[in-house]
Amino acid sequence: MASGTADLNGFVTSDTVDHYDRIVSEAHGIAYVEYTYVHPLGRSEPNQTGLHSDAHVDGMSRVALIIKQRGALAGMQLAHGGGQTEPSLLGGEMPRGASGLPIPAHREPFPAPQPMSGSEIPELIDAYVAAARRAVSAGFDVIEIHAAHGYLLNQWLSPLTNQRSDEHGGSMPACGFRSESCGAFERRSVTRSG
Ligand SMILES: Cc1cc2nc3c(=O)[nH]c(=O)nc-3n(C[C@H](O)[C@H](O)[C@H](O)COP(=O)(O)O)c2cc1C
Repeated sequence: MASGTADLNGFVTSDTVDHYDRIVSEAHGIAYVEYTYVHPLGRSEPNQTGLHSDAHVDGMSRVALIIKQRGALAGMQLAHGGGQTEPSLLGGEMPRGASGLPIPAHREPFPAPQPMSGSEIPELIDAYVAAARRAVSAGFDVIEIHAAHGYLLNQWLSPLTNQRSDEHGGSMPACGFRSESCGAFERRSVTRSG
């Protein structure tokens, strides 16, 4: 659950480590760290944790260590907010989405996102794979891909927000995108050895 303890660049702070120190106990079999953005345009909240660069690994390894010291497995939830965010959180850039449809998932209206271009799709998949590798190198045992709650992968999967006319839309929205991204994890073997 989002702790809102990262700094404004997504780095883990001592508050983040203290938070997991406080909430994880010996009773946990596995403890998941909050939704963590994989790409600079994937941020949904000001103090959200990120794993979008190698510089973020050290801080996250402190969190993984605290969890594992309790005897639990450490889980990481990787996310991208897609259109469920605002330019002010993205250095002024327009949020990206599957289509240009605003996300109907919040009390406040979000601006209509910019539809992702063909070249942004492989970049996004690369960002997920790179973040997953960083999580593994930080010591995490399990990776969860957040594809719900109206965030980007949910936006690809829903006909409410994916009305693309290319191979990433259609009658089974995002099927192509989903199998492409899942396949990327398999083919590019996100393992402890890299
Ligand atoms: C402050 C806050 C932070 C949250 N952070 C996350 C998160 O990081 N990842 C996630 O999947 N859901 C997150 N959620 C959503 C809740 O986990 C979600 O509502 C819950 O799974 C629903 O469970 P319930 O039906 O028992 O309330 C968050 C919710 C709140 C209120």
